[in-house]
Amino acid sequence: MTRQTWLTGITTSGTPHLGNYVGAIRPAIEASRVEGRDGYYFLADYHALIKNQDPERLRRSRTEIAAAWLALGLDTDRAMFYRQSDIPEIPELAWILTCSTAKGLMNRAHAYKGVVQANVEDGSAEPDRGISMGLFSYPILMSADILMFGATHVPVGRDQVQHLEMARDIAQRFNHHYGEHFVLPEVVVDEAPLLAGLDGRKMSKSYENTIPLFATSKQLRKSIMKIITNSLEPGVPKDPEGSALFEIHRSFASEAQSADFRQAFRDGIAWGDAKQRLFELVDGQLAEPRERYAALMANPGEIDAVLASGAERAREASRPFLARIREAVGVA
Ligand code: TRP
Repeated sequence: MTRQTWLTGITTSGTPHLGNYVGAIRPAIEASRVEGRDGYYFLADYHALIKNQDPERLRRSRTEIAAAWLALGLDTDRAMFYRQSDIPEIPELAWILTCSTAKGLMNRAHAYKGVVQANVEDGSAEPDRGISMGLFSYPILMSADILMFGATHVPVGRDQVQHLEMARDIAQRFNHHYGEHFVLPEVVVDEAPLLAGLDGRKMSKSYENTIPLFATSKQLRKSIMKIITNSLEPGVPKDPEGSALFEIHRSFASEAQSADFRQAFRDGIAWGDAKQRLFELVDGQLAEPRERYAALMANPGEIDAVLASGAERAREASRPFLARIREAVGVA
């Protein structure tokens, strides 16, 4: 079997919450520990720039997300960890790909079509209102991220599957015209169940129902105490199914701990006690990474140094690869 290359990008928007941890960071860090693979994990800050034009917020979010991944144990000796914007070969490749990508292909992108659709429904005279060329060409930049490093496997959420299909189309069209330069990547659809938020809907920044990943222990407790429950009294049996409290607990517990908690529900545990148990479980798992996170955030130079060295290593691959592509298309 040829060596696998796993690669994924993290859009640097917002402050990491428990849902990001359970749904993306934890599985990615586990995957990065599997032997026999090369791993590329990068901060997609040029993608974040499409939606976020506040320089301070963009910078802060990037630092927080990098600190979170490092604090949670991404092994940067094994995996490549870098900022997309530190690899100038990526936007260069994106332009080269732009020149051989059909506009019609981009017209079909769900992310772009969704905004057009919303504009039409709002009765706007301009269907492209609020759509930058960055949003329109988003899949091309993402293809450059992937094709640059010959990724064989790309783990992403369901909403990104179409972008992977486009990356394959773009690679194939290029290969057909210029020769076999790009590896066709395979999508690995991430099946981690979505974490419930404070109100029982999926935990998401847009619902304002998140629990921050690296708040202080006290803030974490306060946040967990806000999880919505029903009004059943202590001593009355409670149904774990459909309980956000139980669901969140399950995402952190071992099978045995979860079975115990289920029994406690049947035995009529008081909601306050159940929340306390959830708090202790999560707090116990986050205590150490939280300290590392705080230390990193207090010393952002250390984060920058790790990322700069990741970029240097990644460029050992991207520089010669881009030279080959420039040659192939006739600009070198
Ligand atoms: N678009 C991806 C997301 O929003 C992030 C991303 C950027 C990415 N470039 C990538 C994911 C390359 C995988 C591979 O989730």
